[in-house]
Amino acid sequence: MTPSDYEYLRKLLKERSGLDLSADKQYLVESRLVPLARRASLPGIPELVVKMKSGADALTADVVEAMTTNETFFFRDKIPFDHLKEAILPALIQARAARRALRIWCAASSTGQEPYSIAMCLKEAGHLLAGWRTEIIATDLSLGVLEKSKAGIFSQFEVQRGLPIQMLVKYFTQNGELWQLNAEIRGMVQHRQLNLLQDFSHLGMFDIIFCRNVLIYFDQPTKANIFERIARMLEPDGVLALGAAESVVGITNVFKPYPERRGLYCPNSAPAMRLGASSLMPQLRTVASAH
Ligand SMILES: C[S@@+](CC[C@H](N)C(=O)[O-])C[C@H]1O[C@@H](n2cnc3c(N)ncnc32)[C@H](O)[C@@H]1O
Repeated sequence: MTPSDYEYLRKLLKERSGLDLSADKQYLVESRLVPLARRASLPGIPELVVKMKSGADALTADVVEAMTTNETFFFRDKIPFDHLKEAILPALIQARAARRALRIWCAASSTGQEPYSIAMCLKEAGHLLAGWRTEIIATDLSLGVLEKSKAGIFSQFEVQRGLPIQMLVKYFTQNGELWQLNAEIRGMVQHRQLNLLQDFSHLGMFDIIFCRNVLIYFDQPTKANIFERIARMLEPDGVLALGAAESVVGITNVFKPYPERRGLYCPNSAPAMRLGASSLMPQLRTVASAH
């Protein structure tokens, strides 16, 4: 790959997906794009770039998709899901008692382990949410991961990563080497393709937003812009969950961290909803301790 091919790809990826590649990531581009070039019957990246420049839109979309990192697993980092069960759901169940509706957005949902972990937490809340309208919207840039997520079929390796054995037994059916998530949990999650660089205000307002392990790939102005647009879609007493290596500190002041709730943020413009131990409901406390 020539330096100008690399510069072309860097610029294109930044514009299309927000991916901010430093000057020394040629090896990453080669490891992801050489196999793609071969599958397209092209000898290598220079020929791939020539074809992209000639207006091969489908190939360009494949390049953007191939450069996304889709690493994910069930109940990733554990703590955000403990917060969800122990603090966020109990507090929101009280706060939304009149409306009896909860909307959750999983903003970079990859192959589904994250939105389905959320769905299992909601299901475990049992009768506390009976009769409620609960929506989990899972969005991702990549159509490939969304298709896999919709199918809800996971390998032995995937179900061994983070998923408690009781949940595996309760919500999955084994089919040879694969595990299929049951239809009820799959049906709790709606999937949509969405690029975080583009307008997403049409999704409406949410009570909880999970936007985890995606903003780390973007530069500071892009992160700030996305935080600002996300803040407009979060209810004043809503909660934003970020990945373990992510924070709003030094990037934006539209969110502030929840004290003593690592990874959780609330809109700066409103007082944070109380997420104290006093709001724990016995049933969700039991769910939390099952992990
Ligand atoms: C590392 S995965 C994180 C998955 C999950 N949130 C988690 O924490 O386990 C990052 C996901 O972000 C998606 N992604 C990358 N750029 C995006 C963009 N501009 N808009 C929406 N999704 C994007 C990728 O396709 C990938 O599935």
